[in-house]
Amino acid sequence: MDYKKLAAAAVAAKEMSYSPYSKFKVGAALLTQSGKIYTGCNVESAAFGPTNCAERTAIFKAVSEGEQDFAAIAVAGSPEGKPPKECYPCGVCRQVMYEFVNKGEDIEIIIAKTADDYSTTTLRTLLPHGFGWEDMQ
Ligand code: THU
Repeated sequence: MDYKKLAAAAVAAKEMSYSPYSKFKVGAALLTQSGKIYTGCNVESAAFGPTNCAERTAIFKAVSEGEQDFAAIAVAGSPEGKPPKECYPCGVCRQVMYEFVNKGEDIEIIIAKTADDYSTTTLRTLLPHGFGWEDMQ
């Protein structure tokens, strides 16, 4: 599949980043199974702890609007004023993504430097043997 549009949406969302402390801007674009795209950016706090990653911003936006079935998420992150580099989702975001995959499903993860320069992996590759709601049944 061509993820150029999703990668471009993540790169655009990066510009909305509120990151005065780390000066590391991140954007994410989440594609639902129904074909909608929800974007997000990292939002930092002077108290540091409340900081929310771009991926979780996008996921929480989608879930709060009734979407729980996700196909892919693109992530674009780079230090302010520096060339784009690969930015992989943090462990907390991987766990939050895992909440929304059923057994046998996976989420494609697109690591975008630009709309044209991206690589793909999957959530189960980044979080093998994850613990989820199905393990608690
Ligand atoms: N960040 C994200 O938004 N997503 C990631 O996957 C990695 C880290 C943010 C959190 C913080 O605002 C900044 O990048 C530096 O850690």
